[in-house]
Amino acid sequence: MPDDEQRLIQARVSLTQQIDRGSVVLSSQLAEAFLNVPRHPFVPVFYRRESERFIPWQITDGDAQAWLDAVYTDDSLITEVDGVHAEQADPGGVTGVPTSSSTAPSLMADMLDALDVNEGDEVYEAGAGSGYNAAMLCHLAGDKHVTTVDRSDTLTALARERLNGLGFDPLVIHGDGARDLPPDAMYDRIIATASVRRIPPSWLERCRVGGILVIPFKGTLAGGMIARLTKLPDGTAVGRILHTPAAFMPLRTGTEAEEQVPEIPDGPCRDAGLSGRALDDWTFSFFAQLHMPPGLVRTYDRSGDGLHVTTLYDPADGSATRIEDRPEATPLVTSIGPRDLWAPMELAHQLWRRLNRPRREWFSIEATPAGQTVTYMAPDGQIHRWTR
Ligand SMILES: C[S@@+](CC[C@H](N)C(=O)[O-])C[C@H]1O[C@@H](n2cnc3c(N)ncnc32)[C@H](O)[C@@H]1O
Repeated sequence: MPDDEQRLIQARVSLTQQIDRGSVVLSSQLAEAFLNVPRHPFVPVFYRRESERFIPWQITDGDAQAWLDAVYTDDSLITEVDGVHAEQADPGGVTGVPTSSSTAPSLMADMLDALDVNEGDEVYEAGAGSGYNAAMLCHLAGDKHVTTVDRSDTLTALARERLNGLGFDPLVIHGDGARDLPPDAMYDRIIATASVRRIPPSWLERCRVGGILVIPFKGTLAGGMIARLTKLPDGTAVGRILHTPAAFMPLRTGTEAEEQVPEIPDGPCRDAGLSGRALDDWTFSFFAQLHMPPGLVRTYDRSGDGLHVTTLYDPADGSATRIEDRPEATPLVTSIGPRDLWAPMELAHQLWRRLNRPRREWFSIEATPAGQTVTYMAPDGQIHRWTR
């Protein structure tokens, strides 16, 4: 066997072992998929970070083994920044916000395990990205049963080419994954690899009864989570939140404009019972998001003293609240507009402590086309519900 081929096999074995050693229980079916489907054809060029810049990196840029090791490490690989694909970037790189990546393989494995794909299942993926996850779906369900959609024409063209290169011929669509489902198609499995605030009604409608949906949710409080739901005969979907935290890029529907957070001038203020840093704790920020409107915007920064400053803004009513840490004093809260947005967070934090910091996998979720409800049943039988 040629050396190169041997090296590539070893790389896939190493990646599968890395996933297996982590918190994901890798079924034999999934292990077989990771052993057989190579990652490198889907990410011939990706970005590596050098402080603020994203620098394109391909196998011919220096140490080929280091490149291969990076591809077969359990990390996400950024392939697009503000719409500039790594394959089109200048060698000096770009700055901006990542807009596409190949998801970390252990997270893919966890989501694929939850999706429970069987051969012949009709599968729909929103967020084709590099096409690597779609290749896994092709391996598991059969390529003629897979549809994958991305909002970028460059990404869909590249993903199609690379899937075809491995002998897979799924339906790859350029469009909005929440809206551009092929007419009349029904699916046994629906997976999103971009996050939503609410499940789009189209996914609920197009999932067959008994079918499974695996969907990442995320607002701006950083409390990303993944839900696994089963479609019921009455059209609702019910399920649980997975243990895995996940901060996926948002599914951009084209209707959610970037909200500009207003400046909050100094003015009447109050002492806070909680620092804005509480939101950096992912176990709390998941819970915190349940108490806030889905459209809430959070930004954070450092003050002149290097201390943490969080700002919350609700575009629905124009309320904006700043929470500033202070040296050797309680944090300070300043608000404009009709509501103090930090007050419900302070109450949510008290409730979270009283409930003994419940873990996200202890929550269940129910979704209908009209909205979704997250429920927590405490050990004493008391039920807490949040509807959006
Ligand atoms: C984390 S990446 C997907 C990773 C991909 N599954 C893979 O294996 O490489 C998220 C993708 O969602 C896509 N996306 C964002 N909004 C979308 C939308 N409305 N419809 C379809 N795709 C969308 C982005 O272009 C991006 O490629």
